[in-house]
Amino acid sequence: MPDLDSPAALELDSLGLLDVIGASVEAFDSARAAAEGTEIRWPPEAIENVAICGMGGSAAAGDLVIGAYRERIRRPVEVIRDYYVPGWVGENTLGILSSYSGTTEETLTSGMQLLDYNAPAICITSGGKLRDYYQERDVPIVPVPPGLQPRAALLHMLVPLVIILQRMEIIPDVTADLDEARETIAAAVAAYGPEVPRAENPAKQLAATLEGAMPVIWGAELTAPVAMRWKCQFNENSKVPSSWAAVPELCHNEIVGMEGMGPIGPLTRILMLREERQHRQNHRRFEYTKELIERDVKGVMNIVADGDGALARMLDLVMLGDYASIYLGLLQGKDPGPVDVIGRLKDRLASSGFGRTAGQQG
Ligand code: PA5
Repeated sequence: MPDLDSPAALELDSLGLLDVIGASVEAFDSARAAAEGTEIRWPPEAIENVAICGMGGSAAAGDLVIGAYRERIRRPVEVIRDYYVPGWVGENTLGILSSYSGTTEETLTSGMQLLDYNAPAICITSGGKLRDYYQERDVPIVPVPPGLQPRAALLHMLVPLVIILQRMEIIPDVTADLDEARETIAAAVAAYGPEVPRAENPAKQLAATLEGAMPVIWGAELTAPVAMRWKCQFNENSKVPSSWAAVPELCHNEIVGMEGMGPIGPLTRILMLREERQHRQNHRRFEYTKELIERDVKGVMNIVADGDGALARMLDLVMLGDYASIYLGLLQGKDPGPVDVIGRLKDRLASSGFGRTAGQQG
């Protein structure tokens, strides 16, 4: 098994994901400055609801922001992961087009519909067709530095969303939250970075626990979108199958599947993402469910968020999952960076032409 404390083990990280995550505070600051410096021309009262269009790593930012502020969001905000926007979108919808590369066809297509509806739009992107098309039309663009993997650009995509929603008065003033989140990120880099030996590094320890296992991530409330982020990071960074679900819903279906896991059970580790402010009944659901299914799987672990503000508690867990997923990839002899199969699929779809309905070529 590679020794994560040895520099040789890290050489497999060909795209330098550990260096990118190590520069998270700088990313946070630059994203904050980019969003604050972007001109937004609509008065907050003109906006009735918000559609955040994006996929994969660029959509995760939307889920996380909605999750962090779900009790304080004053108008409906939804993440649209599709070619179509829903029927409620109209000229009073703020469309936020979130695509790191600016080339994702679902986002480009749903973005066109926002224009059809005369919805005001903002792009968060590093380039691609998205930037070219909207720049020509004088749509505000929050710039993101190029050359990263989309999932490694999370802070570049997430911090602008927080600031845009605050500026449009959809969430209250979150200056203090952002300041605390920045400290949390700095603390995570210091605690989970590759130079911290395994004996003192919770991210390396978590990765070691997951070796040879399939991580199943369960969250609740604020940690539900974090569970999805972890699942995607285990897929893309560790190259392992993974799934996620949220309490209380999973107590109405998924636990039955866990009991019946049979041969997959001994390969499955359940990670419960907890935090103090979850509903008392949700705490009980985690505990009782653990007792009910523990013997059917390889293990069940509680992982508790640290921090005061919602954004800080959330990013505390996001950073742990990001680091642990990279370390798990390295431990299992996988380069955490490249996700070639995603690119191959995108290229094939792009070369086949697409229209709004099956059979239509566009
Ligand atoms: O992690 C990834 O590379 C993907 O999930 C991408 O984020 C997804 O394919 C969308 O691409 P983009 O973020 O460039 O719009």
